[in-house]
Amino acid sequence: MVEQQSKKTTHPSGDNRFKLLDRAITKHHNSGYALIEILHVAQGIFGYLDNDLLYYIANALKLPPSRVYGVATFYHFFRLKPQGEHTFVLCTGTACYVKGANEIQKALEHECQCKFGETTSDGKVSLISARCVGSCGLAPVAVIDDVVHGKLSVEDAVKRVKSLREEKKEVGS
Ligand code: FES
Repeated sequence: MVEQQSKKTTHPSGDNRFKLLDRAITKHHNSGYALIEILHVAQGIFGYLDNDLLYYIANALKLPPSRVYGVATFYHFFRLKPQGEHTFVLCTGTACYVKGANEIQKALEHECQCKFGETTSDGKVSLISARCVGSCGLAPVAVIDDVVHGKLSVEDAVKRVKSLREEKKEVGS
């Protein structure tokens, strides 16, 4: 398995996923009219829209942050934060799907007893699926708490989720 720390990427934010977002913004000519589409793309890539991301989008589209925030909160299908303490964002884009993301998804849903889009009953891990996160060469890929994990096996994925949940139990004991 290959881990790719987000710091190794060239984007000033330190997060490779912004390259994909930038591409979508450029495709729409940085137009404010594309706000909802861009928010969809951003949520597809990052799993949810936090304040920094909303500011980033507002700046790129030259819109007041209040407008972007207003739109993001108006529509119920936009998530502004993960519900769990940790996020496991599984890429389900084509390259990752071909390399077994579907098997990882099934195994994690079985392990966590919840579906993607939901949070484990202990509130520790939110399972989120995303479109291509820009690391297709490392497929299948998951972004666990902002760190990209490539060439992920089913066993690795289950082990990591178990570890996140165990870690919380130790902290709470
Ligand atoms: S399809 Fe998963 S990183 Fe591109």
